[in-house]
Amino acid sequence: MTRHLLRDDDLSPAEQREVLDLALAFRDDRQARTPLAGPRAVAVIFDKPTLRTQVSFLTGIAELGGFPLTVDGTLARIGQRESVADTARVLGRQVAAVVWRTHAQARLDEMAAHAGVPVVNALTDDFHPCQVLADLLTLAQHRGGTAGLAGTTLAYVGDGSNNMAHSYLLGGATAGLHVRIGTPALYRPDAAVVARAQEVAATTGGSVRVVHAVAEAVAGADAVATDTWVSMGQEDEAGDRETPFVPFRVDADVLALAAPGALVLHCLPAYRGKEITAEVLDGPQSVVWDEAENRLHAQKALLTWLLERA
Ligand code: NVA
Repeated sequence: MTRHLLRDDDLSPAEQREVLDLALAFRDDRQARTPLAGPRAVAVIFDKPTLRTQVSFLTGIAELGGFPLTVDGTLARIGQRESVADTARVLGRQVAAVVWRTHAQARLDEMAAHAGVPVVNALTDDFHPCQVLADLLTLAQHRGGTAGLAGTTLAYVGDGSNNMAHSYLLGGATAGLHVRIGTPALYRPDAAVVARAQEVAATTGGSVRVVHAVAEAVAGADAVATDTWVSMGQEDEAGDRETPFVPFRVDADVLALAAPGALVLHCLPAYRGKEITAEVLDGPQSVVWDEAENRLHAQKALLTWLLERA
């Protein structure tokens, strides 16, 4: 059966570990495997802005021996000119895999149902699983490999209702992390995602907590993560997307509550002075540039893993 990564819990704990171990191998040797040699094409489609995701997927597909085929979603207008299902059928006859950044998760689900080739979520409104794979890889890199992941406490503070929060919950629970989300009460994560993360955590020894005080989230944490307060597509949203989040800004005082030497993560782009101060983002505990590099290794491992099972 064709495998996909539509949300973080599409990989079992053992499978996630396999992908991360393979990603560590790609870190050591970028040409470790070339499953797309031929070259075979992978379609990479963007319905939203991108920098890291485009660069890391296109570079990664080329390094895997393949041909990276960028599709501009604003031209293709998938679902408007042609249904998602018909687009999937056309793509699946020509490319080895489809990577798609889009809005509603349901669009991705429909693509996966009809493509007949692996489909990868390159960010939706609900999840950003490739980023969390890269974040887990970064923790593994700095904490003695994938064996060191289980039992690590990761605090994510800021917008608890966005794609990153949801992916930290599911992906973190899969890795056996203790995931704490610190967010204003109005921006709590989707209840079904929290419930699913709790279910997964019960099998991995991890745990999940949603709290509304930054200190409670960050206290003693091994890693502190945050993300923009205004996700793509929310720019014109009515309402104040700043004031409620100000207490959750990651500054030196907040970071001092975490474990000594706690790692600082941010998926980028970062808004210095908003969700994180320059002092922290550019400070000695920040591993955000490793994290950005690790998108490449994590996604190459993921594509390799999926293609081997296609
Ligand atoms: N939550 C952010 C993540 C950016 C990588 C967004 O969706 O814009």
